Amino acid sequence: MPGFELFGDAERKEVNDVLESGVLMRYGFDGMRNGHWKSKELEQELQDYMQVKHAQLVSSGTAALSVALASVGIGTGDEVIMPSFTFVASFEAILAVGAIPVLVEIDDTLTLSPKAVVEAISSKTKAIMPVHMCGSMADLDALRRICDKHDLLLVEDSSQATGGTYKGKPLGSYGDIGCFSLDYVKIITCGEGGAIVTNNPKFIKNADKYSDHGHDHEGNDRGAENHPFLGYNFRISELNAAVGLAQLRRLDEFVSIQKKNYTIIRETLSNIPEVTFRTVPDGGEESYSFLNFFLPDLEKSRKVMSAFKENGVDACFHYYDNNWHYIRKWQHLKEIKTLYKLSNEVKEGLSNLKDREFPISDHFIGRNISCLIKLSWTEEEVNQRASLMAKCIKEGLN
Ligand SMILES: Cc1ncc(COP(=O)(O)O)c(C=O)c1O
Repeated sequence: MPGFELFGDAERKEVNDVLESGVLMRYGFDGMRNGHWKSKELEQELQDYMQVKHAQLVSSGTAALSVALASVGIGTGDEVIMPSFTFVASFEAILAVGAIPVLVEIDDTLTLSPKAVVEAISSKTKAIMPVHMCGSMADLDALRRICDKHDLLLVEDSSQATGGTYKGKPLGSYGDIGCFSLDYVKIITCGEGGAIVTNNPKFIKNADKYSDHGHDHEGNDRGAENHPFLGYNFRISELNAAVGLAQLRRLDEFVSIQKKNYTIIRETLSNIPEVTFRTVPDGGEESYSFLNFFLPDLEKSRKVMSAFKENGVDACFHYYDNNWHYIRKWQHLKEIKTLYKLSNEVKEGLSNLKDREFPISDHFIGRNISCLIKLSWTEEEVNQRASLMAKCIKEGLN
């Protein structure tokens, strides 16, 4: 998801504006900043792009998730339902507010299975957190219905699908609150950064204060500001916001390049009968940041991955054998290895994770290969890559 591949004059200009004024902090220093408020500008443009009323920038995608959960009032002992296939940030952010991550199976969308979600609801459940992995989304209408029926909040993590849409709405804008990572390897990047979007004025006011030590941001004397409640520092810097501003303005261009490259590879692989593709829910449009396909079984998927490596096909992931994104290899979390004591409620809530099996997720993740789509490939390179991938897949299937 490489917005950084196309850094250019636009990013340089925004960063230079900040360096010339010398104000790297997003709040205060009004007189020195020569009118440059990159974080505020990016929040405004993000609101417009995401078709929501409010946006709040923070220091990372993980921070966005933690701040979002705190802002909607989730805390000690509450349960948040999340998918078995995600990034560890989902788990970390839920623990960060003292809540309990409840992991459930995914389905052939590679995101939360609505059926598994329903089965996991308890009297402690407060929110459902779909994670739109590898460029595509969960069945959001189904999850919305579940939330409405059980009075739960829908917290979207759209970090890997920025630029995708569902029923005409930008991903991240559909739920009660949506989160994005803008780290270095995302579709658009700030270097390090994250964002929260919502139409709920209370949630965004909470996020604004909570992400900056509880400051109420009233007036222009930071030392005289009130603190209506406890907060922490999850602020973004102006330098990071400046890069993000230039990148957001190029998001549509990035998505269209990704779509072109994705389509070439997909069409080539479609000619192999054993290859099937992930399901995209009706009304969904991917961000095209990855092409995800399934092979008939785990063994063949491993053979194809070996063939990719031997033939120099990079940027393809078999998450079943990868430590980052799938519960199977999250040993430190299964064994609850933390530097400090967790609450008894959290320990109790996680106690069965070590031995829990996720056979349905294994079935999908074991057979899935996920190929990153780069922006910098020429058409010739994409065509060559598509043919080489097809050759390797045929080899692995034999
Ligand atoms: C789905 C998902 N959520 C959250 C994050 C966390 O983002 P950050 O690295 O900005 O903390 C990531 C990062 O890879 C991610 O992929």
